[in-house]
Amino acid sequence: MDRYAVTGHPIAHSKSPQIHTTFARQTAQDMSYEAILAPLDGFVATVQAFRAEGGRGMNVTVPFKLEAFALADRHTPRAKAAGAVNTLAFDAAGILGDNTDGAGLVRDLTVNLGCTLAGRRVLLLGAGGATRGVLLPLLTEHPALLTIANRTVSKAEELATLFAADAGDTRLSACGFESLAGQQFDVVINATASSLADEVPPLPPGLYADGALAYDMMYGRADTPFMAAARADGAARVADGLGMLVEQAAESFALWRGVQPDGAAVLADLRRQLGAT
Ligand code: ATR
Repeated sequence: MDRYAVTGHPIAHSKSPQIHTTFARQTAQDMSYEAILAPLDGFVATVQAFRAEGGRGMNVTVPFKLEAFALADRHTPRAKAAGAVNTLAFDAAGILGDNTDGAGLVRDLTVNLGCTLAGRRVLLLGAGGATRGVLLPLLTEHPALLTIANRTVSKAEELATLFAADAGDTRLSACGFESLAGQQFDVVINATASSLADEVPPLPPGLYADGALAYDMMYGRADTPFMAAARADGAARVADGLGMLVEQAAESFALWRGVQPDGAAVLADLRRQLGAT
């Protein structure tokens, strides 16, 4: 049986073992998937030990995605763009590093939520690792414009410069929150860490165009503060990041096993469980 695992610190509440075990059952793959706590100063040793025991691949979560990037000896283009790795695949040639977060977000938006990105006006809030991780897959969908807005404007500007060559026909720009006044968007994605502090980025009113979707990469039992604020400001639809969690896992699974599992079915199960807790 092929072994896989997720590692992070903390890791006890990770939903990845449940998600991947369900994917394996769905697609009749002979594999196991466990959660491994890595000491804060022991990420590399944890990965090497798992690989030495015959492990085939790992997911990597907070706070080790940059260390995972450094550990991999080959990277997919989307991992290079992200500068961070959430998926490791072990083979005779070494360690391949991938990043499936952005593809997971795009799949949740376009497939699960039926929200087209091509030709639309997209606003991305935040300019940290979460934003950088999803920029290339979002640009690949050819939105008409992609605006990165951040509290610290210089960080948004740095990202816009870094991805300028990938923008193609998309108008890619950066600004502070207050400069958004008077503009409207079809899709607004919260990639800031504000929900962790129970806060909302200070956005001007009137941001949501007719039929607009507000999407928070965070998730919980109830609406996040960002989702509640978006509803109050007139967003037609709001969604949390549970679907992104499931779909980034589905992308990792597809990389390892060569088969695409059904994320929507697992998402429905997790949503039911979350509601019942
Ligand atoms: P991550 O890897 O989750 O992206 P990060 O790299 O620390 O974490 O980035 C956190 C992001 O959330 C940043 O864009 C940060 O804004 P600054 O660059 O100005 O620090 C943003 N952020 C955190 N708390 C916020 C809040 N209360 N309101 C608005 N933005 C916030």
